[in-house]
Amino acid sequence: MARMEVDGKFLDFPEITGSENEKAIDISKLRSESGYITLDDSFGNTGSCRSAITYIDGANGVLRYRGYSIEELAEKSSFIETAYLVIYGHLPNREEYDRFSDLLTAHEMLDEDYRKHYEGFPRKAHPMAILSAMINTLGCYDPEHFLDEDVSHFDINAARLISQVRTVAAAAYRMSVGQPMMYPSPDRLYANNFLHMMFSQPYKLFEATPEVTQALNKFWILHADHEQNCSTSTVRLVASSGANMYASCAAGVCALWGKLHGGANQAVVEMLLKIQESGISVKDFVDKVKRKEPGLKLMGFGHRVYKNFDPRSKILQKALQKMLKASGQTDPLLDIAQELEECALRDEYFIERKLYPNVDFYSGLILRNIGIPLNMFTVMFAIGRMPGWIAHWKEISENPKQRIYRPRQIYTGENLRSYIPLDER
Ligand code: SDX
Repeated sequence: MARMEVDGKFLDFPEITGSENEKAIDISKLRSESGYITLDDSFGNTGSCRSAITYIDGANGVLRYRGYSIEELAEKSSFIETAYLVIYGHLPNREEYDRFSDLLTAHEMLDEDYRKHYEGFPRKAHPMAILSAMINTLGCYDPEHFLDEDVSHFDINAARLISQVRTVAAAAYRMSVGQPMMYPSPDRLYANNFLHMMFSQPYKLFEATPEVTQALNKFWILHADHEQNCSTSTVRLVASSGANMYASCAAGVCALWGKLHGGANQAVVEMLLKIQESGISVKDFVDKVKRKEPGLKLMGFGHRVYKNFDPRSKILQKALQKMLKASGQTDPLLDIAQELEECALRDEYFIERKLYPNVDFYSGLILRNIGIPLNMFTVMFAIGRMPGWIAHWKEISENPKQRIYRPRQIYTGENLRSYIPLDER
């Protein structure tokens, strides 16, 4: 029990212990027993739920999906197998895997009428704006499934969303460059099919190297879920109102877009390009960051939870080095990134603030070397995070005790005042 003294009265609150011995104080009775609420700006110390999907130990750089370490999954699994694990809670057996894969193939095409919506977007529209709008629109093309409460339709909606988000994203890119949208190819696996829809031409099909396909699978495995991050909490909040999966995930796309969150992978490469083009030394750039020059951060560094290292960053760095080695190429931006990392990791400013490379520090360089355009980087993050968002939507929707998310506040505005007629003001 946790005891609190409020206005001379002792209040006892139950302690909660998670399956990895994380501790919490259940304050659900605080307001009714004391009239007080807690205030925790940006929820740095506040748990919003119990969840069985992902475990993070930020002090020791641990990340597990349903108990499996990210290192093992990145090495041995595929994105689709990991997506199944994150959503359904166990690694699929052969029958489950084949059924899931067949569902993805059966639902990879877009309705021909749906494609007409792209004509309404200007070519320069940011693909994240298109993605959020078009995910919400997807549901309209499957009315018999997406709005009803029948949980048996969950599998179809989940498969549609995971499969079609890839087709929607590639179509957004093709529209932006004035090229014909490519249809998915049923005999290609997930990542390869995406690259086909992005880069094939009607007269010449695109074939990705095994290293590129492997790097993209790893990229998406590492992005599949990350417990209560900003965009996933957004999905849960929207889902808690009873909103359908498409609306909830479309809201997740909007939250992910921010450069402090999923938009960071684009911002990292923009930062590296600026350093390269300006010719400024890495040390001088780091000094500008430490002086907190307006709008300047070391993008791809820092994390609310990881205060030691982000395990995903190390895996992505190795995947990038392997991909470059296989292609016999070098990347000057990788050299700058590694110099930035070395410089920051031995600098007191970053050490005392526990700032380390996060998932976004190297991920953008993988995408850039695959040939993904810069403004599609956060879309790639969203494709990877879709299984996590769907899993959290499912976890909320299946919880019979789930209540709508409705935080409290402390009001700091004007006290009561009377209306003054316009001509007397
Ligand atoms: C993702 O939550 C998740 O799990 C997210 C994610 C996922 O998988 O869903 O992991 C994906 O969003 C990764 C983070 C991507 N964002 C960036 O790389 C943007 C740069 N990083 C930061 O803006 C920042 O580190 C955050 C947003 C990631 C975390 O912010 P916090 O926890 O609110 O920390 P803070 O802003 O309060 O910073 C504490 C101190 C401050 O200095 P002081 O005021 O104490 O002097 O650290 C400084 C900050 O100025 N600081 C940085 C910095 N990040 C924090 N200084 C320079 N460069 C940075 N990147």
